[in-house]
Amino acid sequence: MVHAFYAKVRGDEVLGPIFDAHVADWDEHLAKLVDFWSAILRRTARFTGAPMPRHAVLPGLTAQLFERWLRLFRDNAGAQSNQAMGAQACLMAQRIAQSLWLGYQVSREPDVLPTPLAHG
Ligand code: HEM
Repeated sequence: MVHAFYAKVRGDEVLGPIFDAHVADWDEHLAKLVDFWSAILRRTARFTGAPMPRHAVLPGLTAQLFERWLRLFRDNAGAQSNQAMGAQACLMAQRIAQSLWLGYQVSREPDVLPTPLAHG
């Protein structure tokens, strides 16, 4: 699921260039993201990372970009043979995207109230 999703992200005309500008080693990135989703969906302890600060330093993220990311994620998860896991992945992706987006706004503009994603 993770590999298929990031293949779509890399091929996306809007999201692809952002990832390509910031991900130097795709094998390493994919291994990390597999660990991340393994930790979330299978309750393993494989992921040790820091998503919030990693996203906070990315310039120019917007609600539209997060929503685009989520649409691709849902399309991809919906095509998985394990539908129960796909649905759970979408739920968690939505929550985490919401939290990353709120955290992103607060880290960039601490004096302005953050606004949630449309489908939050
Ligand atoms: C507009 C949406 C998003 C963009 C453009 C984006 C972009 C990126 C980029 C460029 C990196 C690599 C940063 C680095 O290695 O320094 C990254 C890492 C990561 N992203 Fe995202 N991301 C987005 C949304 C999300 C969402 C919604 C999730 C989770 C549901 C997520 C999970 C992660 C994780 C787990 C990492 C690895 C963090 C670490 O190294 O500790 N991302 N993202």
